[in-house]
Amino acid sequence: MNVTILGTGYVGLTTGVCLAYLGHKVTCADPVASKIAMLEEGSVPFHEPYLADLLAEARCNLKFTTEYAHTIPGAQVIFIAVGTPPGPNGSPDLKYLQAAARGIGEHIDASFTVVVNKSTVPIGSGNWVGSLVRETFEKRNGKKPRTTFAVASNPEFLREGSAIHDTLYPDRVVIGADEEQTAEVLYTLYRPILDQTFQPPTYLPRPEGVGAVPLISTDLASAELIKYAANAFLALKISYINEIGLLSERVGADISQIAKGIGLDARIGTRFLQSGIGWGGSCFGKDTAALVATAREYGLDMQIVQSARDVNRRQRERVIEKLLGELRILKGRTIGLLGLAFKPHTDDLREAPAIDIAQKLLERGARVKAHDPVAMESFKKHHPDLSDVNCCENPEEVVRDCDAVVLVTEWPQYRDLDWEPLAKTMRTPVILDGRLALDRARLSRAGFRYLGMTC
Ligand code: UDX
Repeated sequence: MNVTILGTGYVGLTTGVCLAYLGHKVTCADPVASKIAMLEEGSVPFHEPYLADLLAEARCNLKFTTEYAHTIPGAQVIFIAVGTPPGPNGSPDLKYLQAAARGIGEHIDASFTVVVNKSTVPIGSGNWVGSLVRETFEKRNGKKPRTTFAVASNPEFLREGSAIHDTLYPDRVVIGADEEQTAEVLYTLYRPILDQTFQPPTYLPRPEGVGAVPLISTDLASAELIKYAANAFLALKISYINEIGLLSERVGADISQIAKGIGLDARIGTRFLQSGIGWGGSCFGKDTAALVATAREYGLDMQIVQSARDVNRRQRERVIEKLLGELRILKGRTIGLLGLAFKPHTDDLREAPAIDIAQKLLERGARVKAHDPVAMESFKKHHPDLSDVNCCENPEEVVRDCDAVVLVTEWPQYRDLDWEPLAKTMRTPVILDGRLALDRARLSRAGFRYLGMTC
């Protein structure tokens, strides 16, 4: 099929490259010329494992452009995958979505086109996009669109760091459309994924047990709400285990054992029960805020989701409390941060706990050193306000002469550091394992005073 993707962020580019890999003819459009130039040369503007490899393999089915006029006419499916950054009152800012919808209305032609909302958008956006496309078309042509077009919602559930895996081997595909004809276009598009009939890339083999992928075919509003409800549920699972962690610390219990003990109940499930500093990233914070804001518009108070947000904020403050409890004074101390990205295998710093923690430490007069395997360039570029943070070449340099080190992001290479000699290079060998990812017994043997978020 002829597919156009508007937006080349994590969602848009991953979707475009995967669909091209499956054999569709895909054009990715983005108004940012520097991004398009990079993509044309085969490089990916952000860190995402295997995305550049898959792009190279699917290159013959891919085009990149900055011009909507080049790609909207003739497209059978147009995905809107533009950013919906958080606005001031918790509701997402929809200016890019609006511009994309207007762009479609300006250039759409006579063939039947399905316009798909892939961005996480407030409930009701499907209808809104439809009316914007129609309105713009009418203004341009002085008449109603002869062309039939329809809007669908197809929320994404991909995680940064495993975006290709999650797209090729999803737990489910959700398609929201108000007419059967619209949904059918998307079944055809996703058929190779739904039936798992494609040849897997050598570097991402099909996981054992992955068979036909369940399809949820529903109305527009339900698909839109599924996305928010899924992310909010995952977020509150994390906040729940972090809240239990607080009590666990008081009573002297072991939170990892508790997570395992409850998670093995199939009704609960083991995933997203990793306690620690809490969630960050572009989705959980934004989507829980949007859900609370939408509910408020309908006169509802989403107390559970709001509490999950409060608990998550409190976890970041606890890092400072833990350090204060140990060092008593933070002024003039040197604190090392291992990891800046909001989670491993990405260079994304949006809502990353490290940013908040660095800010809080600097405000209290501490010196801050930091390292991240891939996010340091992005940190320097996007956080000039934190230029006092000393970015170090390697983790060993961070640890040297520190009064305490905090593991903020559980990159695998930090777990495998040669911790024994490192303890001797610190002023006081204190480590706060913010992700419960390090080997406590080994660190204690190496001479560290080991602190967890819950012990
Ligand atoms: C999330 C959703 O998982 C994905 O389905 C959605 O479409 C986009 O948002 P992402 O933000 O990429 O994906 O990351 P995810 O792996 O979900 O992690 C989010 C945050 O939660 C990270 O900061 C991570 O460190 C934290 N987390 C995750 C925990 O603290 N504990 C856990 O058990 C799991």
